[in-house]
Amino acid sequence: MYVTRRAFVGLGAAAGVTVLGGRSATWFTGAPLAGRAQSAGNEARLTSVDGRLDVELVASEQWIALAGAPARLWSFNGQVPGPLLEVAAGDDVRIRLSNDLSESTNLHFHGLHVPPDGTADNIFLAVPPGEALAYVFRIPENHPAGLFWLHPHLHGSVARQVSLGLAAPLVIRGALDAIPEVAAAREHILVLQDFALDRLGRPVDPGMSALMAGREGSLVTVSGQARPRYAVEQDGLLRLRLLNASVSRFYRLSLEDHPLHIIATDGGSLAAPQRVEELLLAPGERRDVLVQGVRAGGSYRLMNLPYPRGSAGMMGGALGTRTPFEIATVVYEGRAGSPVGVPHTLGEMERLPSGPLRRTFVLSEAMGMVPGRGMGMRFLINGREFDHARIDDRVRLGDVEDWEYVNTTDMDHPMHVHTNAFQRVGADGQAQPAWLDGVVVPARGRARIRIRFTDFAGTAVQHCHILDHEDLGMMSTVKIEP
Ligand code: C2O
Ligand code: CU
Ligand code: CU
Repeated sequence: MYVTRRAFVGLGAAAGVTVLGGRSATWFTGAPLAGRAQSAGNEARLTSVDGRLDVELVASEQWIALAGAPARLWSFNGQVPGPLLEVAAGDDVRIRLSNDLSESTNLHFHGLHVPPDGTADNIFLAVPPGEALAYVFRIPENHPAGLFWLHPHLHGSVARQVSLGLAAPLVIRGALDAIPEVAAAREHILVLQDFALDRLGRPVDPGMSALMAGREGSLVTVSGQARPRYAVEQDGLLRLRLLNASVSRFYRLSLEDHPLHIIATDGGSLAAPQRVEELLLAPGERRDVLVQGVRAGGSYRLMNLPYPRGSAGMMGGALGTRTPFEIATVVYEGRAGSPVGVPHTLGEMERLPSGPLRRTFVLSEAMGMVPGRGMGMRFLINGREFDHARIDDRVRLGDVEDWEYVNTTDMDHPMHVHTNAFQRVGADGQAQPAWLDGVVVPARGRARIRIRFTDFAGTAVQHCHILDHEDLGMMSTVKIEP
């Protein structure tokens, strides 16, 4: 059954739907500021009912109202970004992907700890045009609460399909949402996407050097809007759940005159909020932050600050944001009935035990053929391009391993691992207590992670989440053996 928001409202009354966690997120639009109408169809939320989420996602091409102007995009259910899926740990999920596009596509559940094979998070499946496929799996009972997302993952087409709009957030509600301060916060999900469109709203092909650098579009949207406004109450809390669903763009975010209190990273809650003045969000990554309404009033810009993500050499020059720009605004509106502060603690946080360095992955580039475009740059892990038929690494279920990435190129590669979250290893050899599924390996630099393989055997992958690099070869297989 395909539950639309409208159908769900009707069903909810009849079925006595339980509200998961605290106050549910305001979705899509900035705060419904007084008198500001939401555009029709913008509130697409598919929520599990009685432990089941059974929905259909139709991938198709059409004109979408994006940032107030028509854009010819690819969408799930006519929405860019796609509908918000809301589930809880232990839920049974069935998502039928119906492909109305003119080419094959598929789904990946980014960050979810579910099997990498069968009809679960299996990126080796493909859905040809005109066909449909049901992804069926259970969210483990002990799955952390957090923000995850869905996007196509068909090797060779991922960057283009995501750049055209195919992405949808998925929230797992749980313990974090039940913390009183967090539950009291006004919650918004901010899906950061960028688009390269012509004046008529039609997508523009990036061209070879943009593929090498990783394509960036000049139109940056936040949940489909340009510079939305989010309301915060004086003495209240605002919860911004940030997801970078852009193909290649990095965001270095800072809110004027307000620190950000990070309460969760990619894979779930921290032990305690971490106060920062700014944060870097590489492609694929998520951060959940609280903003405290500590000012007397006014409006404050959420800025994207300059971040050099490397250089594409003679062909492309310096990459990344050079001039700061505003991506959203936080506006004071009203006063909290009773003041709410940032919580002191959030829960238990395990630190993975130290182990020996088990694998090194050297990231490099080389000239090669780019399908349909001639000679260009290819991207490699340990000297090889992705081959789905090859097993690159074999690991054991239950093991904890340290991996080191060595970047021999002049640009950052945000590496991402499927199926199991990991922790970053600091200079002291200790795991930093935050669950991640992405790590930036800086240009000419290194990064070390610690990862534990639990629950699911099967063939997973890791790759650069500059999705053009993934399509150009920077992905490898990791077979998890029982
Ligand atoms: Cu979001 Cu394999 O990626
Ligand atoms: Cu992923
Ligand atoms: Cu890369």
